[in-house]
Amino acid sequence: MQTIIQTSYRGIDALTLESRPTPKSLNPLAVRVETRYTPVMPYDILTETGQLKQRRPVKLPIVVGYGFGGIVREVGRLRSSQFLNRPVIGIQLTGSHQEQVLSTLPPLLFPVPTGVTLAAATTLVGGADAAYFALKKTQLRVGGTVLITGATGSVGTYLVQLARLAGTHVIAVGHSSRHDLLTDLGADQVVDYDRPLAGQINDSTIVNQIIDLAGNPTLLDQLTALLGAVNIFSLALPQYQSQHPQQVFTFASGAITPGDYRWLLKQLAEGQLTAVIQKEFPFTAVKVAQHQLVDGHAAGRILLTYNQEDN
Ligand SMILES: NC(=O)c1ccc[n+]([C@@H]2O[C@H](COP(=O)([O-])OP(=O)(O)OC[C@H]3O[C@@H](n4cnc5c(N)ncnc54)[C@H](OP(=O)(O)O)[C@@H]3O)[C@@H](O)[C@H]2O)c1
Repeated sequence: MQTIIQTSYRGIDALTLESRPTPKSLNPLAVRVETRYTPVMPYDILTETGQLKQRRPVKLPIVVGYGFGGIVREVGRLRSSQFLNRPVIGIQLTGSHQEQVLSTLPPLLFPVPTGVTLAAATTLVGGADAAYFALKKTQLRVGGTVLITGATGSVGTYLVQLARLAGTHVIAVGHSSRHDLLTDLGADQVVDYDRPLAGQINDSTIVNQIIDLAGNPTLLDQLTALLGAVNIFSLALPQYQSQHPQQVFTFASGAITPGDYRWLLKQLAEGQLTAVIQKEFPFTAVKVAQHQLVDGHAAGRILLTYNQEDN
């Protein structure tokens, strides 16, 4: 099977495609999944460039990637056979960008409900899960107002929807080319970060919480100057020196529960949440896909595809 490997910290262009043998016998706890999709995430690129060395020390070489969506083709004798030939999504902490995944941690594998495409379900991993984590951490009140930076990205497109579902008003900040996307997702107000903010946010605007997914300190400075010392919760910026002494800044990184993943899948099945897929690339074009993530303007999640010919 083909596998996408990081062998150095020289970034995207140093990734390699390697052929690795598929294990002949299955560990009793393992499930063999034929990969169909993996999400292209900033986390991969930060790891490839060495920017996560402190928070995510790894011993190279590693398989790139975190989440996957695929079809279960074999189950170990201690795993339930109910998943056989069914679509699943999962988290593979040892790397997911490969044609087959051997999933050995039962709580990190989830069946995809009828009516949800595998591509849509795959976007939950590293997208809706992080958005739900941020929402739970900030404990926004119904009727309160949250301002979200980086709202057009994979996490942001879900966070806008989840915050609306939770009954909060949403001010979504994104690039002007994605203004309509944010309106369609339900944002009450859209702010274009590439136009002067002062004309778009006036000093009577009351915001209860900023959730930062963009990680741009200059943008946070500008927002603070307009809105005052609103608490900031960031998934993107480990440190921020606020200009305002009373402003509380929190960075966090964390996970949601297996029950939360099942709830998110149910919301997709019931049409309460929509997956925004920016583009699909064959996994062999991983470098092009990652460059697009870095250089383009986000509109949801970029996915790599695998084994598509027999879908
Ligand atoms: N801590 C955790 O547990 C956790 C989990 C998941 C993700 N994250 C982090 O959360 C962030 C969002 O993840 P994602 O997957 O949604 O990434 P993404 O899809 O690449 O989205 C990033 C968003 O930030 C915006 N952005 C980037 N640079 C900007 C700038 N200088 N000024 C204004 N906006 C800017 C992008 O807009 P444009 O494309 O228009 O620039 C886009 O809306 C990333 O930093 C990621 O590493 C953390």
